[in-house]
Amino acid sequence: MAFALGPKALAAGYRLSAYESIGSTSTEAMAWATLGDPGKLWVVANEQTAGHGRRGRGWQTPAGNLAASLLLAQPGHGAASATLGFAAGLALESAIRAAAPSVAVSVGLDEASAGGDRLALKWPNDVLLNGAKIAGILLEAVTRPGAESVVVIGIGVNVLHCPKEVPYPVTSLVESGADLSAETLFTALAEAWIDQESLWNQGRGFAAIRDRWLERAAGLGAPIAVKIGADVFRGTFETIDDEGRLIVRAGDGSSRAISAGEVHFGAAATAAL
Ligand code: BTN
Repeated sequence: MAFALGPKALAAGYRLSAYESIGSTSTEAMAWATLGDPGKLWVVANEQTAGHGRRGRGWQTPAGNLAASLLLAQPGHGAASATLGFAAGLALESAIRAAAPSVAVSVGLDEASAGGDRLALKWPNDVLLNGAKIAGILLEAVTRPGAESVVVIGIGVNVLHCPKEVPYPVTSLVESGADLSAETLFTALAEAWIDQESLWNQGRGFAAIRDRWLERAAGLGAPIAVKIGADVFRGTFETIDDEGRLIVRAGDGSSRAISAGEVHFGAAATAAL
């Protein structure tokens, strides 16, 4: 089966550039951006040889996994683009539920905070299955001459394979009992994106996205440790604010809004990091 866009994505004017193997779909999408591509372009592959993740880490996409990058031009205004990752996380969660109903039972707050049973979203942009990372999302932005902002949303999903030697628990959809291909999941993702993008509405609808995201959030109300550079901030995961920042309440009752950091739950939240 080949990668394809579904009817909603096609009707909304999305285009597709698909590869068997590529260095990085996000690097390729950025190259299209600098050449003046108008956006609404998916770059997709089921193998990457030079994928990258957050914090300068590599991202492994062996053949059979999904690497998809969405190029958007003028997606929103100013800080709004930073909240796009939450809409992308919701689209991916919804696509997994549609394409792999056997593993992807939506969670309520209790299940998520109890340690991540089934499918959950982890701040800022991970998708967890049974508490282990199944997908990561990376937002990259550039400003083109003329001050037009361009964002690439890079989405990597462990469909068939788990990455090796990574410093956190990982799983794959197939390991968790799903029977699906990267191609099937991609079509579902591109369709689900249309709904979430319309709800996000250039950032004006972030309140609704935020509510949905919080309903699916891993670790809400539970102990959390956030590594910010060399520092570790511990407390309780209270909520995310209207800019998508993580709100952590410390033991002394004070709360802190965090824009970037590495989140740990459970035993790791209380152990030395
Ligand atoms: C993370 O570190 O969790 C984010 C990982 C993002 C990986 C995806 S795979 C598709 C796209 N191409 C890349 O090189 N990176 C992103």
